[in-house]
Amino acid sequence: MNYSRIIGTGSYLPERKVTNAELATWVETNDEWIVERTGIRARHLAAPEQTTCDLATIAAQRALAMANCTAKEIDLIIVGTTTPDMIYPSTACLLQARLGNHGATAFDVQAVCSGFIYALSIADKFIKTGSAKRALVVGAEIYSRILDWKDRSTCVLFGDGAGACVLEASDTPGILSTHLHADGAYHHLLNVPGTVAQGRLQNGDGFTKMQGSEVFKFAVNVLSEVVEEALAYNQLDRTAIDWLIPHQANIRIITATAKRLKFPMEKVIVTVPEQGNTSAASVPLALDIAVRDGRIQRGQTLILEGVGGGFTWGAVVMRY
Ligand code: ACO
Repeated sequence: MNYSRIIGTGSYLPERKVTNAELATWVETNDEWIVERTGIRARHLAAPEQTTCDLATIAAQRALAMANCTAKEIDLIIVGTTTPDMIYPSTACLLQARLGNHGATAFDVQAVCSGFIYALSIADKFIKTGSAKRALVVGAEIYSRILDWKDRSTCVLFGDGAGACVLEASDTPGILSTHLHADGAYHHLLNVPGTVAQGRLQNGDGFTKMQGSEVFKFAVNVLSEVVEEALAYNQLDRTAIDWLIPHQANIRIITATAKRLKFPMEKVIVTVPEQGNTSAASVPLALDIAVRDGRIQRGQTLILEGVGGGFTWGAVVMRY
């Protein structure tokens, strides 16, 4: 068993869809500005009573159903999230309890928008080393709860959601390679500075702070560099890639990256217009949508990639 291979995907978007026009009644903005700068037309927002684990549970159940396997057969659960239900236990442990799994390894990964790419890469290594046979890998966020809804420069960009996949040990490929990076020197460009101590939020507030144009440039650079790295590692020409599934931050970041890579947009999965940036959920959501609508077919070669606060970034090359 030399590979890990995806045998099921699932996703979930909260029911409530907020258009740019509705957003413009909350904060001084307009549809034209948001569409022109970001490509975003709407985002889904979780209901007040919903938690990240609620979203993750539905996505996970859908992935398990497609994989035709039960939660009891899973021996590793990793959740990529920046918006956990609690400080602890991890959302992965809460998800494990909700699914009725007892005894699997379970933990969260905090790599912000790269969370799913990090989680998938870690799960692949657990499986390749024989430490796990079947992994549930999830990206789930209620990002709307760490947004200042009076700050138009950030609140228009994000949405809530969850995506999941089941990964299994396999003789046939499978994940071909994973490439993870981080550079904490850029932590100031994108962060939520607050922390909890003495029962209260300390060191600033709990809202997203972002230097938009710096983030934009950084994202395009590393997203294109990591794809070049992944192609070179696998000695693949870009024409061998059937689908690029990038982090869905902003349509301009996605098109600029594709242009730099000389990669046709027809081969790029794009979900950002109707979902906004769902952080760690964005890549598994896009993957699941394209699997279920039949664009992604067995045997095709995919590159999944992410970038997020930290900064963190990475890519996964796989034969689906
Ligand atoms: N509606 C209307 N006007 C706005 C809004 C808004 N929502 N937000 C900002 N403006 C105004 C600004 O106040 C400014 O006005 P001024 O010229 O009178 O001062 C003007 O629009 C231009 O603002 P800029 O910030 O310079 O706009 P820019 O062209 O840089 O676009 C944007 C901003 C869309 C945030 C861009 O920088 C960007 O896409 N950055 C990447 C951010 C991103 O995707 N982050 C996601 C998280 S990171 C990740 O996932 C990796």
